[in-house]
Amino acid sequence: MKLIIINGPNLNLLGKREPEVYGTKTFQDYFSDLSTKYPQLELEYFQSNIEGELIGKIQEAGYAFDGIILNAAAYTHTSVGIGDAVKAIPCPVVEVHISNTFSREEYRHTSFISPAARGVIIGFGLQSYELAILSFL
Ligand code: DQA
Repeated sequence: MKLIIINGPNLNLLGKREPEVYGTKTFQDYFSDLSTKYPQLELEYFQSNIEGELIGKIQEAGYAFDGIILNAAAYTHTSVGIGDAVKAIPCPVVEVHISNTFSREEYRHTSFISPAARGVIIGFGLQSYELAILSFL
């Protein structure tokens, strides 16, 4: 099974960015733990701060992978284009968020991705990604 984790803007700063919200671990360290824990999976990771690059990757991965685990970060709440990309591809997308977006500012309560996602996992810290992986097994 081939799965890809796609992270959006500012998630390259995990470990340093608002640690009280997002924790102190880097995504590289977390991803390497996941890869060790699930050797039966072909796991890939992509991050970009650029909306068009995320759309390009979703389109490409949508025809090449069995599943996408997508944290579009702030673009979740603003990007019609990323929502449309998720609708356009045949492969299932699980939307994840590290923080509980519903316990935060109102503008984080909407998502352009959720209507097209297979499911949504919100608020379990970095473990949200692992729960998304388990949903594919
Ligand atoms: C986030 C929540 C978003 O509202 C925020 O803009 C992020 C991260 C999360 O994983 O909790 O950058 O997607």
